[in-house]
Amino acid sequence: MVDRLRGKVAVITGAGGGLGRAMSVSFAGEGASVVCQDLNGDAAHTTADAASAAGAPGTLPWTSDVTDSAAIDAMFDAGREQLGVVDVLVSNAGVAETPGDGMDKIQGLAGSQLVHMSDDAWRRMLDIHLSGAFYCARAMMRALLDAGRGGSMIFISSIAGTSGWGPPHYAAGKGGLLGLMRSIARTHGGLGVRANAICPGVIDTNMTRAIPPAMVDGLKMMTPLGQIGDPSDIASLAVYLAADESKFVTGQALSPNGGLVI
Ligand SMILES: NC(=O)c1ccc[n+]([C@@H]2O[C@H](COP(=O)([O-])OP(=O)(O)OC[C@H]3O[C@@H](n4cnc5c(N)ncnc54)[C@H](O)[C@@H]3O)[C@@H](O)[C@H]2O)c1
Repeated sequence: MVDRLRGKVAVITGAGGGLGRAMSVSFAGEGASVVCQDLNGDAAHTTADAASAAGAPGTLPWTSDVTDSAAIDAMFDAGREQLGVVDVLVSNAGVAETPGDGMDKIQGLAGSQLVHMSDDAWRRMLDIHLSGAFYCARAMMRALLDAGRGGSMIFISSIAGTSGWGPPHYAAGKGGLLGLMRSIARTHGGLGVRANAICPGVIDTNMTRAIPPAMVDGLKMMTPLGQIGDPSDIASLAVYLAADESKFVTGQALSPNGGLVI
């Protein structure tokens, strides 16, 4: 399909990574202009180039830390000036670990990561996943109100947020995103804004390539569909949630996970 996002302008954070790049290219292929944000500037530019090649009418690579609220505000202003009012947000930037989080002190799922986790490690995780999403949602909402328009916000959570898979700080951040999403959906629907979350299972990206192969095999065995996911499994759902065909869908957490969580 083509043109399902024609005329839309999307901000995708963490666009340099596995899911971010796949979503950026899919959005571009459906006719959206895309602001490609990432902490890694080279990766942001590579994704913007790929989005242009896929047919995006306009792209804007943006290098910043998603926890820098002033830089996020500046990104939405620049997006509006160069591409048009941003009416789709994919809040996707994320990390699986933070320095000092005690991951190195435990083996697999054995032991307590909680007791080894530093305050800074806890705060950094919540800052990236939760504060970063809030800064983006706030900046987008201000611009939408100003323009008198609605839009679609998509928050990339995780099965960690719905079911506790993963470390405590990661699960807390991903669960918090669901609260943010549900509040925005409930309180901003009357303003024409939809908010939804995608809660991926295990998807093949750099983030999951650090998982030991034996553990990946175990996860596949526990998954009814017998495999881990591909970034395109998430990108296709993100396109749907960004497009007008999902106009009656808001406040939902959709979880492509192969059946690992049912
Ligand atoms: N891969 C999976 O199995 C999986 C499962 C569930 C949820 N997720 C979530 O999907 C999202 C994308 O993950 P991915 O699998 O593509 O991983 P990835 O590591 O390939 O990509 C993550 C991207 O986020 C960027 N990033 C990290 N910290 C940032 C910051 N402070 N500011 C801006 N950018 C930052 C990184 O530079 C990277 O490009 C994450 O939020 C992750 O938690 C992934």
